[in-house]
This record gives sequence, structure tokens and C-alpha cells, in this order.
Amino acid sequence: MSLNNTGSVKTGGLAGVTAGKTAICTVGHEGTGLHYRGYSIQDLTQHSSFEEVAYLLIYGKLPTESELKKYQHKLISLRGLPPEIQSLLESIPANANPMDVFRTTCSMLGVLEPEDSTRQAKDIADRLIALFPGALLYWHHYHQSGSRISTDFEALSTAEYFLSLLHLEPAQPEVNVQALDTSLILYAEHEFNASTFAARVCSATLSDFYSAITAAIGTLRGPLHGGANEEAMRLIQSYENPETAEKGLLERLRNKQLIMGFGHRVYTVSDPRSDIIKNKSKILALEYGDENIYHISEKIEAIMRKEKNLFPNLDFYSASAYYYMGIPTHFFTALFVIARMTGWAAHIIEQRQDNKLIRPTAEYIGPSPREFEKISKRK
Ligand code: COA
Repeated sequence: MSLNNTGSVKTGGLAGVTAGKTAICTVGHEGTGLHYRGYSIQDLTQHSSFEEVAYLLIYGKLPTESELKKYQHKLISLRGLPPEIQSLLESIPANANPMDVFRTTCSMLGVLEPEDSTRQAKDIADRLIALFPGALLYWHHYHQSGSRISTDFEALSTAEYFLSLLHLEPAQPEVNVQALDTSLILYAEHEFNASTFAARVCSATLSDFYSAITAAIGTLRGPLHGGANEEAMRLIQSYENPETAEKGLLERLRNKQLIMGFGHRVYTVSDPRSDIIKNKSKILALEYGDENIYHISEKIEAIMRKEKNLFPNLDFYSASAYYYMGIPTHFFTALFVIARMTGWAAHIIEQRQDNKLIRPTAEYIGPSPREFEKISKRK
């Protein structure tokens, strides 16, 4: 970061600015340092589940076996949709953006089940993690086929629950469930990213939990943040094979177009999450005997390295992994929400523990003070 002589930040977008302290996550810059509460994402993705990571982030420690079992059953018990939410979902148009479905559902739940002395942050976080997959898929199936699906389904993991409700059959093969579980862990938390920061800014005004989550969902929606995984899929699918991908991508780069799923504000060498999800994407490609999308993705990666020295971020290979699981592209960012709910919750709770209103100053670059002109005299 560089400061000018008035102490203001010269770089845009608060790049490089340390905007607060956190004990939840450290990112590292070279692409090797991502840890959630001290545990590396390599260990977490290899040895734990999304529910263990959710517990770690929200409750501050890894659960014991009995704590995990209790937590999984708590989440199962919180999956039911109130009738008011069902009618709301039925009234949201079929062509709505799933992120708007989540933003609206969150807002409505905040009215129906407000945060008060009996219902506090951790319980609301669990309720939202449990309810969101069912809310999205209730809305989806209602508008696709007119059916009002039951969301009270006893799958132990969020990944199995989501895939079973999406396809309305037991989630299979198991590699799908494992890959989605890994992806949810990778998307769970990432320090002071834009949506988390938005949640913290909102919380710092002493607003309620639902308002902070609603702010975060709205912030994640943009293609420079969560929306990149959907845009990456659309790009990959716009090419028939690796050869046309190469030609098309070079053309885009010549036209100075952004390639979604590449680059990162914090990482300079690589995104430590990318190889993990890339490996899952490859496993799925082989499982389904359909490697074209994977090969196109690899070609795009190679060209981005050669031409721009840019590396894929988590969103790029998440796209092909989700594609192989049969997840519609317009649900990709919504899955990011389900995972990141855990990180947002942890940050809202942390912000409240040592709160200070977040209100920076701006460097004024507008006109000097001038005389007011009455409306009749203005030209
Ligand atoms: N495709 C093409 N060029 C890219 C690029 C991409 N995905 N990401 C960065 N660049 C280029 C920029 O055009 C810029 O080039 P210039 O110096 O010639 O103008 C340079 O790299 C620096 O990029 P900048 O946008 O200033 O970096 P940033 O820190 O502000 O942006 C992102 C970080 C993530 C917003 C940016 O890399 C991006 O837009 N990526 C695509 C969206 C995405 O994948 N988002 C998910 C992030 S996890």
C-alpha cells in the first residue's frame, strides 16, 4: 500500500490495506498459506467434512465425534421451510436469479424468526445453513414442474442433502457427494473478502444477523466475486474443444476482456484451493467418461499462464466440477452462499465481540465551495 502526504490510500479498492484483526482465517499471499483457525485447507479437505468445518468456524473448535453427530442432527432438524417461506418462494418468478431467491428468503426469515434474546447468532447461522439448500430447490422444483417438494430429508451431510433434493433421487455416485463436500469446505471462509467485509460493516452498526447476511449475499452476487464461477462455466461451454478454446481465448485477450475465474486480489502466485478442486474435477471427468470440458478448462488455464501469467482461482475448476455433478450453472454462486454462510457467521460473531463502527474517510476530489444558484437562475 502507498500513502500520499495526507495519509490517504493511493491504490484503489483498499488493496493491501489491513482493515482489522481476525482469528478466523489466514490467507497467505504465495498460494500456500490458507488456514481456518490454524488448520490448513489441505488437512481440512482430506480429513474432515463440511459440517466439521462449519462447526470449527462458528463454534471456534473442531467437534468431537459426539459433538459432530449432535450438530449434524441439529442441522437436519432445522431444514423445514415455514409455510410463509414456501408461499414466498412460489411467488418469486421462475426466471429470478437464485442469489435474489436467497437474499429475499434471508430477509423474510429475519421477519419470521427475528434475532432476539431467545434466538441468537449461532442458532440463526445453523438455521440458515440448514434451510437454504431446501429453499433454493423448493423454488426450483415448484417452477420447473409445479411440485411442492418436502425438504425434510434425513441426509447427514449438506452435500448429500443438496444433490438428493436437486435430482430428487439418492445422491450418487459417492464421488459427487465427496467433491461437493470438498468444494463447500474450500468456499467456507476467506478472510476479509468483499462479502465478508460487507457483513462486518453491517454488523458493526449493531444491526441484526439477517441484515448482515443479506448485505453479504448481495455483495457475493457480482461477477468479480462469487458470480465468477458461473461466468467461467459459460466461457468454457462456449467452446467446442481445446483447439477452438485456444483461438477464442486469444481473441478475447486481444480485446482486453476479463477472463472470469483467473487472478486474485490477495494471491500473487497461485490460489491454494485451485489444485484441490481441479483434482476433484478430473476425478469426476474420468468417472463420467466425459473429459472434453475438463480438457477445454486445462487449455484455458495453459493460455492464461502463457499470455497473462495468471493462475486459476477457486471459481475456475469449481465450474467444471459442478457441471459434472449435474448442477445447473445458475446455481453455482448459490452453492458458494451455502458454504460461505459459515465464514460470514464467524465474522459477524467476531466483529460483535470487539465492535467498533467501521466508517473510513474519503479523499475529497469534488468542486471547491461555491455559491448556491436558485432554481430560476440555473442554466
Ligand atoms: N482476466 C484478464 N486479465 C486480468 C484478469 C483476468 N481474470 N485478472 C486480472 N487481470 C489483469 C487486469 O486486466 C490488470 O491488467 P492491467 O494492469 O494491464 O490493467 C492486471 O491483471 C491487474 O488486475 P486488477 O483488476 O487490477 O487486479 P485486482 O486485484 O483489482 O482484481 C480480480 C482481482 C479477482 C477482481 C481480478 O483478477 C478479476 O477481475 N478476475 C476475474 C473475476 C474473478 O475470477 N473473480 C473471482 C475472484 S476469487
